[in-house]
Amino acid sequence: MLLQWIIILFFVFSKEISGREIYTPGDDLKSHIISPLPYEVILAHHGLSDDSISPNDVLKLLPREFSWGNVSGKSYLTHGLNQHIPQYCGSCWAHSSMSSLADRIKIARNATGADINLSVQFLLNCGSKSRLSCHGGSAIRAYEFIYDSGYVPYDTCLPYIACSSDSTNGFCPKADTTCTPMNICRTCTNPTKGGSCAAISEIPNASIAEYGNYNEKEVFAIMAEVYLRGPVKASVNAGPLQNYTGGIFLDSPSNRNTTHNHGVSIVGWGYEESLNVQYWIIRNSWGEYWGEMGFFRIELGKNLLGIEAHVSWATPGAFTENNFPCYKDGSNCQPSRKYIDPVNDQGLLQRRLLLRSKIGRTLFEKTAPFLD
Ligand SMILES: *[C@@H]1O[C@H](CO)[C@@H](O)[C@H](O)[C@H]1NC(C)=O
Ligand SMILES: *[C@@H]1O[C@H](CO)[C@@H](O)[C@H](O)[C@H]1NC(C)=O
Ligand SMILES: *[C@@H]1O[C@H](CO)[C@@H](O)[C@H](O)[C@H]1NC(C)=O
Ligand SMILES: *[C@@H]1O[C@H](CO)[C@@H](O)[C@H](O)[C@H]1NC(C)=O
Ligand SMILES: *[C@@H]1O[C@H](CO)[C@@H](O)[C@H](O)[C@H]1NC(C)=O
Ligand SMILES: *[C@@H]1O[C@H](CO)[C@@H](O)[C@H](O)[C@H]1NC(C)=O
Repeated sequence: MLLQWIIILFFVFSKEISGREIYTPGDDLKSHIISPLPYEVILAHHGLSDDSISPNDVLKLLPREFSWGNVSGKSYLTHGLNQHIPQYCGSCWAHSSMSSLADRIKIARNATGADINLSVQFLLNCGSKSRLSCHGGSAIRAYEFIYDSGYVPYDTCLPYIACSSDSTNGFCPKADTTCTPMNICRTCTNPTKGGSCAAISEIPNASIAEYGNYNEKEVFAIMAEVYLRGPVKASVNAGPLQNYTGGIFLDSPSNRNTTHNHGVSIVGWGYEESLNVQYWIIRNSWGEYWGEMGFFRIELGKNLLGIEAHVSWATPGAFTENNFPCYKDGSNCQPSRKYIDPVNDQGLLQRRLLLRSKIGRTLFEKTAPFLD
């Protein structure tokens, strides 16, 4: 019996170590969609419907080349990423999902102001119930987690340290990655002058409005999503990526292995005239020394390396542009934002009653003419 458990645990554990991106049945069905999808909007714009047009014709509705890294000479992409420093961490799912969301915020801001970078470490510290860790996770579960939590902090609250509570790599055994207020957003003042660290309660953050998935049968929908809204997260077989040194992954038997184990972000597509091939332009999170300055390209429309099979997207809800100004030591954050129950505050109670009298046209109306 004990041996049985050891064997089961070994398989569960070893599977997690090797797979950095771990989907569980049902993940691809997770979604929260209220608005029409970009491909529906584009079809409607042309007076077309899903079944009145062939898949090939549909692709002609979009430009042959389009990348958020170069829209009329301007980049809407946030900074390059490296998930494996200060030590190895299987957080591809977090980097790819958060960079896609941060790029969409940058697009919404027309690439003005300093970039807003979202905290990957928040997902590692707080997402364990959604099975998000350095041993793997999934973008759609990360999006769902942020949607349910209501926010993801900016990374100046909580920078990336490449640790989760189940990681034994590097300095991780000594790092506190529990989901406490201090491990969501913190500040520290000089300890030699009696300072210490404190949690911040008014957190610059972004929320998520909607999220969903596409698969390899919906290539036009994926392109429309990227084109109208911004980068999406995709999954890929990372085997052939290990020793990639640039160029386009083209259709070949070895590139048809769609076993997915890695998360990346599609930021656009291009066209190679000499090959008459369209390709995806994809952001990886292995540093700028890898690939083409951290990016790679792969032929589009053939689900090579599984690139079109597990695409996830999210739209931002709100994002902080005017922060609530806390002091350096973390004080002054809370009081004025704290909810005050009118039933416990006489002055507020009076004002509320007068307000009600105005709206409700009750008998208080005549005694409160100043409200008009
Ligand atoms: C951006 O694209 C234009 C063509 O649209 C090209 O001329 C230019 O070199 C590109 N810039 C970069 C930085 O790739
Ligand atoms: C965004 O920036 C471009 C220049 O890159 C400018 O032409 C355009 O008017 C801006 N749009 C908004 C909404 O600020
Ligand atoms: C986001 O990251 C970039 C590059 O590291 C940096 O220039 C920018 O200031 C960061 N933004 C924030 C709000 O931390
Ligand atoms: C397909 O790719 C996976 C993951 O990289 C690898 O483990 C497996 O051996 C490959 N299968 C074949 C038939 O090459
Ligand atoms: C990548 O290159 C290294 C060093 O040459 C080699 O040991 C390794 O087997 C290669 N990996 C793959 C997946 O081809
Ligand atoms: C997130 O930001 C919004 C405003 O941008 C703010 O109202 C909200 O309190 C913030 N959430 C947290 C948890 O601080």
